[in-house]
Amino acid sequence: MIWFSWKRTALVFVAGGLVVAGATAAYQTACADDAAATEPAPRPALQVLSASERALDAKKVALGKMLFFDGRLSGDATLSCATCHQPEKAWTDGQAFSRGYPGSLYFRNTPTLWNVAAAKYVFRDGRLPAADLATVVRDHISEAHFMQADGRLVIERLRQVPQYEASFQEAFGGEPTYGRILSAVAEFMRSLRSPTSPLDKYLAGEGTLSEEALAGLEIFRGKGRCIECHYGERLTDDGFHNLGLPPNPALVSAPQRHITLRRFFRTLGVSDYRQLKRDIGRYAITKQAADNSRFLTPSLREVSRTAPYMHDGSLATLADVVSFYNDGGGSAEDKDPRLQPLQLSPAEQASLVQFLQTLSGPLKVIEPPSLPKYELRKLGAN
Ligand code: HEC
Ligand code: HEC
Repeated sequence: MIWFSWKRTALVFVAGGLVVAGATAAYQTACADDAAATEPAPRPALQVLSASERALDAKKVALGKMLFFDGRLSGDATLSCATCHQPEKAWTDGQAFSRGYPGSLYFRNTPTLWNVAAAKYVFRDGRLPAADLATVVRDHISEAHFMQADGRLVIERLRQVPQYEASFQEAFGGEPTYGRILSAVAEFMRSLRSPTSPLDKYLAGEGTLSEEALAGLEIFRGKGRCIECHYGERLTDDGFHNLGLPPNPALVSAPQRHITLRRFFRTLGVSDYRQLKRDIGRYAITKQAADNSRFLTPSLREVSRTAPYMHDGSLATLADVVSFYNDGGGSAEDKDPRLQPLQLSPAEQASLVQFLQTLSGPLKVIEPPSLPKYELRKLGAN
């Protein structure tokens, strides 16, 4: 599997993917121009973020953005997508666990939305393909733990806002429908490309990194073994791994969160959902024993803005994450064998943190749109 992923990366590289590379001697050998065709195969590499593959429809993006910030998409009209996915926090919320719909608490950390259209899977357990963002939006609007809304109610609300009626007409040539709502929000998400980071500039030969960050890059690609799972444009293998994280006690200490967890795993057909005191991750989707406690490798772009970390928000800072990996990950017996104590000095750990900071570009300021109001219509006018 690992071999396969590496090979895939190699193909991307051969096909003219953006140049990788690097300042370190070892990697210069691996990534030299003629190395791609000969053995040994190039190792996974970091890549500059490429431009979006698909042309976007500006009218749908603008409408989707307005809907993303509008609480009318949730049952009680208090929660918008942006309540949990806040632009200034790289579309996360700063909480260990997502708050969930009022009256419930969710049991996972909110992920970033940057570059989500380029992902393979979404959600920490990869339960939906990123290619189908409209379904991801529908899941959020309708799920009891997210926005708990009846689609027909949402449509009727939007029909009583003349500006929305006009915007749907412009973007779709018709009135608001559920399918069009999903499609507009999905188009907005496709527009979310993270800003150019110092690492992109460095890889493109257009900028430098501090000595310390360069030392961190070397560890990332070398003895830290981070690159084995975090590579490519988004610094992820789009795979699932068990890092052996100890269960977060807060998962089952709050009744509302425990209830959401039980209901969630019950819906997915997990037979012993009543006994669960931990998040079983990918296992709930595949029911394969090997997938127990495996979670999707997250993208590391803008990672300095997405604290706290991991599927359960149990690590507060990047320094905590590095220290966790330095200890060889958690103590679970079935953890990924690649996680071994790294014996990094405090200075080396600090340089790895410095490197992780170079994955964030300048803060992109995204102004929330001003939301249109309901307007009383003449009865029978729409
Ligand atoms: C109550 C908080 C909350 C609200 C409201 C919310 N989300 Fe989410 N979102 C989450 C959480 C938590 C996850 C991760 C769930 C999981 O892994 O089980 C997530 C995951 C996602 C993902 C997948 C990201 C990835 O890479 O895995 C997308 C896309 C997304 N949300 C978009 C939206 C959109 C669009 C809306 C509005 C229609 C929305 N969210 C509303 C909390 C929320
Ligand atoms: C075996 C594959 C693997 C290796 C090796 C690995 N990671 Fe990870 N990384 C993951 C997975 C999987 C997660 C998500 C775990 C979870 O959600 O519980 C993750 C999460 C993270 C996060 C948190 C991101 C977030 O938004 O929550 C950071 C930061 C990170 N890794 C950095 C590193 C660094 C630095 C190294 C090297 C010291 C490294 N990783 C090595 C697979 C790996």
